[in-house]
Amino acid sequence: MEERIQQLLKEVQEYTATSRDAVENFRLKFISKKGAIPELFDELKRVPAEEKKKVGKILNELKQSAEAKFAVLTSALESQVKDLSIPDLTLPTIPNKIGNLHPLTLTRNRIIEIFERLGFNVADGPEIEDDWHNFTALNFPENHPAREMQDTFFISKNPDVLLRTHTSNVQIRLMTHEKPPLRAIMPGRVYRNEAISARAHCFFHQVEGLYVDRNVGFVDLKQTLYHFAKEMFGKDIQIRFRPSFFPFTEPSAEIDITCLICKGTGCNVCKYSGWVEIAGSGMVHPNVLRNCNIDPEEFTGFAFGMGIERVAMLRYQINDLRLFSENDVRFLKQFHTVI
Ligand code: PHE
Repeated sequence: MEERIQQLLKEVQEYTATSRDAVENFRLKFISKKGAIPELFDELKRVPAEEKKKVGKILNELKQSAEAKFAVLTSALESQVKDLSIPDLTLPTIPNKIGNLHPLTLTRNRIIEIFERLGFNVADGPEIEDDWHNFTALNFPENHPAREMQDTFFISKNPDVLLRTHTSNVQIRLMTHEKPPLRAIMPGRVYRNEAISARAHCFFHQVEGLYVDRNVGFVDLKQTLYHFAKEMFGKDIQIRFRPSFFPFTEPSAEIDITCLICKGTGCNVCKYSGWVEIAGSGMVHPNVLRNCNIDPEEFTGFAFGMGIERVAMLRYQINDLRLFSENDVRFLKQFHTVI
C-alpha cells in the first residue's frame, strides 16, 4: 500500500492540466468520493495496527498535496480565462469616427473671429419677425417689391407675421434697445421665396454688421471690409466696390471679390464674369437712425450684410449651394475643424 501511495504522489506532482476537463479529471481521479485517495482511506481501516500510524501519515500527505495541486490547477485555469478576456493591447484601435462641424458653422465662426478682433460683438434676433423690424423701420417704401409675396414667406394670413428676409431686423432691435456707440455683427438664418438652384435657396445664412458712432464714415466701411476680405481669403484677393441701392443705406455699395473657384476664368458661381458679389453695404440711412430714436445729426453708421453660403463656397471651392442643406455625409465629412 505504501508503494501505491508513493506512486500516486508522483502522479499528483507531475499532473499538468490546461483545460477545464483535465482539471476535473484530476479531481475525479484523486479527490472525489470515488477517487483514489478516499479509497485508500477505506483501505487504511484494514491495515494492521502497528503500520497504521506510518501509512496514515503518508496518506495524509498525499491528500494534502492533491488538494493543494487541485487549488493550483484551478487558479491557473481561471487566470488563463481572464487573460483571454483582455484584448491584445498592442493591436491598433478601431478607428473612432468623430463628427465635424458643418462647413457653414466653420465659416460663420471664422467670420465672427475676424470681426471680434475689430471689436464687434455678436448679436442675435428672431427669425419670425414683424413688418416693422424687417421692412418699415429699414425705410422700405410702402410698395417696395421686396415686401411682395414672391420674396417673403408670410406665416399667417396676417401680413405682419413673416420669416425674416435678412438679418437687418437685428440692426433695428439693437439700435432701438441700446445707445451708440454700437459695433456688432449678426449671424443668422434668413428666408426668401426663391426657386432652389445651384446659386439660390429658399433659406440661407447671413452675417450682418453694424457700426454706429460719432464720425463714422464711408472710409471706415471700406477699410473694415478690405480687412475682412484679406483675412478671409488671403492677401492676394482683389476687391471692388460697385454703387448699388438698398432702402436702408445711402450711399450703398455692393462688394465683389475675384472668383476663387475659377480664378477669374469664368464659372457658374461668378456667372462667367470672374467676380463674385460677397456683400451689400452702405452708410445707415438717416431715416433708419431716426426710426430707432438715434439722432442722425449726432451719429452716423455703416452696415453690411453677406451670405455665409457664398463665403463658404469660395472658401472651400463648392459650386452648388444645395449641397449645404442636403445632409449628404460624403459631402459633410470632408470638412475638418481647423483650429
Ligand atoms: N440686408 C441686405 C440684404 O439682405 C444686405 C445689406 C445689409 C446691405 C446691410 C446693406 C447694408 O441683401
